[in-house]
Amino acid sequence: MSAEPLHLLIVEDEAAHVEAIRRAFEEAGTDVQIRAVDTLREFRACVTEQPPNLTLADLNLPDGQALEILTNPPEDAPFPVLVMTAFGNQHVVLDVMKAGALDYVVKSPESFAGMPQTVERVLREWNLLQRNKKMEAQSLRAQRFESIGTLAGGIAHDLNNVLAPILMAVEILREMITNEAGQKILSTLEASAQHGADLVKQVLAFARGIEGRRIMVNPIHLLHDIQHIVRDTFPKNITFSLVPHRDLWTTTGDPTQLHQVFTNLCVNARDAMPHGGRLTVTIENIVLDDVYADMNPDSKSGAYVMVEVTDTGTGIPPKDVERIFEPFFTTKEVGKGTGLGLSTTMAIVKSHGGFISVYSEIGKGTTFKVYLPADTTTKSVETAALERAQLPSGNGELVLVVDDEESIRSIAQATLERFGYRVLLATDGAEAVAVYAQHREEIAIVLTDLAMPVMDGASTLVALKALNPQVKAIASSGLTANRENTQAVKAGFEHFIPKPYTAELMLNILAKVLHEPA
Ligand SMILES: Nc1ncnc2c1ncn2[C@@H]1O[C@H](COP(=O)(O)OP(=O)(O)OP(=O)(O)O)[C@@H](O)[C@H]1O
Ligand SMILES: [Mg+2]
Repeated sequence: MSAEPLHLLIVEDEAAHVEAIRRAFEEAGTDVQIRAVDTLREFRACVTEQPPNLTLADLNLPDGQALEILTNPPEDAPFPVLVMTAFGNQHVVLDVMKAGALDYVVKSPESFAGMPQTVERVLREWNLLQRNKKMEAQSLRAQRFESIGTLAGGIAHDLNNVLAPILMAVEILREMITNEAGQKILSTLEASAQHGADLVKQVLAFARGIEGRRIMVNPIHLLHDIQHIVRDTFPKNITFSLVPHRDLWTTTGDPTQLHQVFTNLCVNARDAMPHGGRLTVTIENIVLDDVYADMNPDSKSGAYVMVEVTDTGTGIPPKDVERIFEPFFTTKEVGKGTGLGLSTTMAIVKSHGGFISVYSEIGKGTTFKVYLPADTTTKSVETAALERAQLPSGNGELVLVVDDEESIRSIAQATLERFGYRVLLATDGAEAVAVYAQHREEIAIVLTDLAMPVMDGASTLVALKALNPQVKAIASSGLTANRENTQAVKAGFEHFIPKPYTAELMLNILAKVLHEPA
């Protein structure tokens, strides 16, 4: 496996300038693949073929101005543009920045020589910008979700007023119409109106938030029920297994509602496996700490009973994953699904003080994890908290943390330092390699994200191994499939940590890898 080089596209009609930039990158030793074109027309052709990581464009080109790239960007190919101008004219600079360039460079032998550093800085700013955009989108989604809830609540209320008289009228008509055919029609009418009323009830529950009983619930009992339903009613080409861990904690809630949560998830799993497959339900106790909670905004630290529902079905396309919890979002045929299952599920779990996470891979399957707060009065929950207080500490070992997300870096750093480690940080693979080269004698272990722009975790490891074949490295990733895990180990990582992770998990794995013989 070779490291992924940086793709740079230069749009410049002066061959000498392109040459100067090439030389600068060569001297800096950056792993870069440079393509150079003369005109905007060629630029467009080139971009559709393979979008670069960054475009470096001369302002004045034979067939137009580089501003066009910015004001009229190629679709689906977002990348930063760095504009080069012959003079540092104020007006020009203003135009360039207004058009959306991340930066501009006034051409000179010095600026050409410094291009590798400039490019690195611009890429870093660009990544930051993309991340902020993502967060904005997330908050917009949350708002939209809320307004959909309000809207649905309003409609449901009106529909109730439509359906109630129909149902009452059916009662009266039953008395008046005595012939068999008439009674049949009335039954159909009643069943349909009743079905409508049930749907309305679900929507209302979703919109108002769910209230219910609060009694001690042992999830394993619920899941035994579900097991019966599945075995009796699901197609035989779906294999079901229930894997309860030992000494499970209890939770407090409404058994009927929780039953509905797991039924919804299992039914969805069934529908996702029209040709059969495996449906696995695992239950285990889990303690989440602040480190975990900081990485996952939906969660709170504490003790949970976690129920994991995994299928080997179609998977959910990334564009849909963000929408599946919206009411009425369905990909099923009309009449097959109403799109209320998951929105109700989410509302119930939230009203129980829990949260849900989902992981899916197209063609491989989907995992839903439902976290329900454990009853903290349980003796074993206390013990677990105590055990957690005795986490394995470091002894001043130096850890290099590589992650493109600022929040993850700072959480990891704070935790490691609190538990006796020293920390160096890098925001991407290239920086990690540079830092490692400088401190290689001191760095005891590297903890790196797998999915990073420009140079991913696996490529980073290859580069680190070139510096030191004995390097110890742990991979982490937000994609928690087993596949990631095995791939990470194959790539030569000692261990894999799924994100978000707890301090406990991170510290235990660090201690284990550090103390095991090389
Ligand atoms: N396990 C799964 N595998 C693949 N896709 C899923 C899975 N679970 C949910 N989905 C997707 O999410 C959508 C919404 O699910 P949800 O349960 O809310 O509604 P539904 O199943 O379509 O209808 P309803 O549950 O109201 O009958 C589904 O239509 C499907 O596209
Ligand atoms: Mg459903």
